[in-house]
Amino acid sequence: MDLIGYIESKREEHLNELKELLRIPSVSTKSEHKPDIERAAQWIAEKLRAAGMDNVEIMPTKLHPLVYGESLQAPGKPTVLFYGHYDVQPAEPLDLWTSPAFEPTVRDGNLYARGTADDKGQVHIHIKALAALRKTAGKLPINVKVMIEGEEEVGSVNLWEFVKANRERLKADALIVSDTAMLTKGVPSITYGLRGLNYYQIELTGPAQDLHSGVFGGAVPNPITILAEMIAKLHDRNFRIAVPGFYDDVATVSRQELKALNSLPWKEKEFRRTVGAPALNGEKGFTIREQLWVRPTLELNGIWGGYLGEGAKTVIASKVHAKISTRLVPNQEPAKIARQVERQIRKLLPKSVHCKFEVLSMGKPWVAPYTHPIFQKAIHSLETGFGKRAVFIREGGSIPFVTQMHDTFKVPCVLLGFGLPDENAHAPDEHLALENYFGGIKAIALFYEQLATL
Ligand code: BES
Ligand code: MN
Ligand code: MN
Repeated sequence: MDLIGYIESKREEHLNELKELLRIPSVSTKSEHKPDIERAAQWIAEKLRAAGMDNVEIMPTKLHPLVYGESLQAPGKPTVLFYGHYDVQPAEPLDLWTSPAFEPTVRDGNLYARGTADDKGQVHIHIKALAALRKTAGKLPINVKVMIEGEEEVGSVNLWEFVKANRERLKADALIVSDTAMLTKGVPSITYGLRGLNYYQIELTGPAQDLHSGVFGGAVPNPITILAEMIAKLHDRNFRIAVPGFYDDVATVSRQELKALNSLPWKEKEFRRTVGAPALNGEKGFTIREQLWVRPTLELNGIWGGYLGEGAKTVIASKVHAKISTRLVPNQEPAKIARQVERQIRKLLPKSVHCKFEVLSMGKPWVAPYTHPIFQKAIHSLETGFGKRAVFIREGGSIPFVTQMHDTFKVPCVLLGFGLPDENAHAPDEHLALENYFGGIKAIALFYEQLATL
């Protein structure tokens, strides 16, 4: 049977198999899910073997194992490395899910469950594409190495060590990743840029212990008030980041590139609907595409302290905490940015509180040209699989491994995303459009097939 006919005939089977993986709550942040992480790794390994991969191994790291497999049966042909992750974000708040997060459910042409779009559904696209190629052609037309990790959602903390220790094994002519989104429905997209991510946590301590706010209030520092004032000063009126030096190394983007990004086919109205806020407030002087893709940001991701229970409690908290992140663009240097952010936060602090400043993780941005012939193959396969012309986009999100691989091996990285911006990755009711899941398997199978003549 021909490749596409075979894939078409397996729709039900593919979907049911993906549902099995989605039922495993492989949440990487929570230690209670360690057994589920192990189970998901086993599941991936088994499916890689079934797809005909050799030397499939579950490799332990300091935290969660990664799954590796390879098929090197095409001497003289190109070798690609496919990367993805089987871990997922926590499903909370659970009560906001229409159907339970780990009970995959199809509604209106979408498959709902944690990990459908990010990234189990996209990983499964590749496993099934490889299996289909092998089934219909007898063997793979190219050499493929597959690495599926279990710590992406916690910053790929131990991955780098693994890469350094396995440089030879991971060597490839290109890196292939499906962990991003399409620009909008019906527009297959290739991502050539990601922002970098630095994550910080701060703790302010005022009084040595919690105090009665009537007895002490008025004379003593309140860390929550102080944090709020300080945070308010991290942006100016135009929503520019008020950290000295923060923009110094931001590369200018060519007019030609800006023009290309700003003329991509998407609807601002749809974007506003997805956001659902009464109004937007991005950095003044930049288009939405620029704000999301070529400008750096500073975001508050969490803030807690004081009394959060039911009713009233008159208290001045001793401590307050905040989680802050910065998204970085070329040529910002993560370590330099972290120093600048810490310096500014310390500068804004009054003498009445102590501040503990921690850098939880750092990651560089990635932007690369798409001139290598492999991108033509990618465009062509997406066009055949989806019946639509593909576009080149940048993304605001971060995938630490892509930057690391690009820096280490200097190979082209081809990011073919099958999610959509409104599919609620990291949020309740995460889903994946079935047309993109099924279309993805076809496009990826064609892509691997075409790489034989790269
Ligand atoms: N798949 C996402 C990254 C992503 C999403 C890129 C959408 C482009 C478009 C990935 O799983 C993710 O969530 N990354 C984190 C960073 C990580 C270090 C926790 C992110 O971007 O916040
Ligand atoms: Mn992801
Ligand atoms: Mn994610």
